[in-house]
Amino acid sequence: MQSLGWSVYELCGGGKARRITDVAHQVKTKRNIFCMTGDCEIVSFTPTDELEMFIVDFDSKGQDKLTFVEFLFNDKENGRFLYARNHDIFLPLSQAILTSCGIKYLAPEMVLLYKSTDTERKGYQLDYDMTVGAMTAEQRAWLWNALKVMNPNGHKWLKANGELSMGSNNSNNFWEAIADDWDTRVGDDGNDFHRELIRPATLRMLNPQTSERILDAACGNGVFARYLAELGVEVVAFDYSPAMIEHARERSAAYSKQIAFTIADATDYGQMLSLGNGKPFDKAVANMAVMGIPDIEPLFKAVFDMLKPGGVFVFSATHPCFQTPDKSFTPDGRGVITTDYITPKRYSYQILTDNPKCAYHWHRPLQELFRICVDAGFVIDGLEEPVFVKGSCTHSVWENVPLPIVIRVQKIKEYVS
Ligand SMILES: C[S@@+](CC[C@H](N)C(=O)[O-])C[C@H]1O[C@@H](n2cnc3c(N)ncnc32)[C@H](O)[C@@H]1O
Repeated sequence: MQSLGWSVYELCGGGKARRITDVAHQVKTKRNIFCMTGDCEIVSFTPTDELEMFIVDFDSKGQDKLTFVEFLFNDKENGRFLYARNHDIFLPLSQAILTSCGIKYLAPEMVLLYKSTDTERKGYQLDYDMTVGAMTAEQRAWLWNALKVMNPNGHKWLKANGELSMGSNNSNNFWEAIADDWDTRVGDDGNDFHRELIRPATLRMLNPQTSERILDAACGNGVFARYLAELGVEVVAFDYSPAMIEHARERSAAYSKQIAFTIADATDYGQMLSLGNGKPFDKAVANMAVMGIPDIEPLFKAVFDMLKPGGVFVFSATHPCFQTPDKSFTPDGRGVITTDYITPKRYSYQILTDNPKCAYHWHRPLQELFRICVDAGFVIDGLEEPVFVKGSCTHSVWENVPLPIVIRVQKIKEYVS
């Protein structure tokens, strides 16, 4: 690594790291080492009195560039990784996640076992939150047993029934971290996706009228709320990411009399209900958000309860038939392949093409999505599957296959029997 221009450090305990200038000389053997490039932004150093020794700290926002690599020294014996703190806990090398140049790398369950000793550290908890949902049942069972051995009196990642806690189960950290990038991409008036697909279909189905009062759920940087305000609508817009709401307020200063932005969590029925201030909404909208929310039943129930009779709720999401957890493209790039549609599940989804950070998406087949609408009391009365016009999208597949789905549901005034 040094010959490639990376700096190499050995971790010496107590938050200290020593720069290694001679690879043949480490202060202690079997210490973890880490290597970083000159433009690595996730590690900070405070010099100490000792030569080449620093207090190190890591940015918990996570790594999105290959500027940092940490090597864990782990004893191995008879084809097994041994957990350094207890050699009775091991993992067969055959289960290591990667093999490269004949070297076995650790599996995520082993990495999380190491990180389990410092769950107060935000980055470690975040790693757990992001990883645990993606692990196999076998990996989770291994981690549960190992945690139990190391923490006989309990651990925050252990549930009593042999299950692991599923972490924070939401993507708020993700949206907070990505809010600046998202805001730049969406800007005042929306990106191509919003302007060409979401906005036209949503406007057709929402049919907003001057002086109506409309709720904009999970409003992001307020792009649609501003458009509604331009049409003379009074908007209450909310999002659970404070950073996103800050961007929304900054960009919408000219509409401050018409748009009330607020921070609220769509999974909390009580918080939703208080948004109406006891005054019913004419209509509601949630653009491209429901697939990113773990439990949408509180949102649908609250919107139903807050709408006037006859009011509509228009929401859009990644199309569940074509944006499935295992989606891939046909070899010619013109079609989508999936074998994983019918089971609702959480998976990781890269939101911005040039930012590798992933949020959670909750895949719901249409029958599940429609069940939630109907259970909340709604009648489904509109649906559009927008595609890009020919030649306007870099991925021609989205000219024939709809990337999003836009659905309208109505709180009908009364049933005719
Ligand atoms: C893909 S963005 C869409 C934003 C906006 N509706 C638009 O179309 O530009 C999804 C938004 O949902 C928000 N969100 C996710 N989960 C939420 C929750 N539980 N409560 C409120 N907002 C949430 C995120 O913070 C993010 O701003």
